[in-house]
Amino acid sequence: MGTICHHTMSLDGFIAGPDDSMDWAFAYGETTSLANETMKRIGAILAGRRWYQLATERWNGVGGIYGGAYDGRVFVLTHRPSDKSEDPRINFVSDGIEEAVATAQTAAGDRDVGIFGASLSQQCLQAGLLDEIVIHLAPVLLGGGVELFSGGDGKRIDLERISLGKGEQLTDLRFRVVKQ
Ligand SMILES: NC(=O)c1ccc[n+]([C@@H]2O[C@H](COP(=O)([O-])OP(=O)(O)OC[C@H]3O[C@@H](n4cnc5c(N)ncnc54)[C@H](OP(=O)(O)O)[C@@H]3O)[C@@H](O)[C@H]2O)c1
Repeated sequence: MGTICHHTMSLDGFIAGPDDSMDWAFAYGETTSLANETMKRIGAILAGRRWYQLATERWNGVGGIYGGAYDGRVFVLTHRPSDKSEDPRINFVSDGIEEAVATAQTAAGDRDVGIFGASLSQQCLQAGLLDEIVIHLAPVLLGGGVELFSGGDGKRIDLERISLGKGEQLTDLRFRVVKQ
């Protein structure tokens, strides 16, 4: 039971290209062994409101997660708690990052919580709430977009590499966050 920041990332550190484009990530058409393993470990997802809006408009909402293979709940952290989704698997939460992680963890049961997006990953890191970082490194330089690790607070965070794997084009990286 823990939290996993789980993303496909370009070599220059972006998890979405300009205009939140994700075509580059879908283009490889491969699901690596670490991706399969991580999907199975994740019992609930915590994402931010931008993810919700984009996923709803462009990628079939929860149905688009992990190529349609995800069937758990998604908790969306937002300042607009009165928002409603037609999808019962989506729940809006507004009581801060700690409460949001706790709520998602309860829903995940004995599995892990997947953290989606740069904003929530940073907030979890800074609050000491992130346990693992799983990256599928894509062989592309996007040149702009949403940077995963740009919002640090100047404090160093050490990581321990747990595994390194090779897909056809993607490189799998799994790290444990070393807690202070
Ligand atoms: N490559 C990948 O594998 C992958 C995976 C997932 C996501 N993504 C990409 O990541 C991007 C989304 O991430 P993002 O970091 O830009 O945005 P985000 O985390 O999805 O959304 C940020 C928004 O969430 C709400 N929020 C965040 N923290 C909050 C808090 N503590 N309390 C209340 N509300 C809070 C705020 O919206 P309000 O103030 O409007 O409520 C904030 O503007 C998208 O481009 C998506 O495609 C990529």
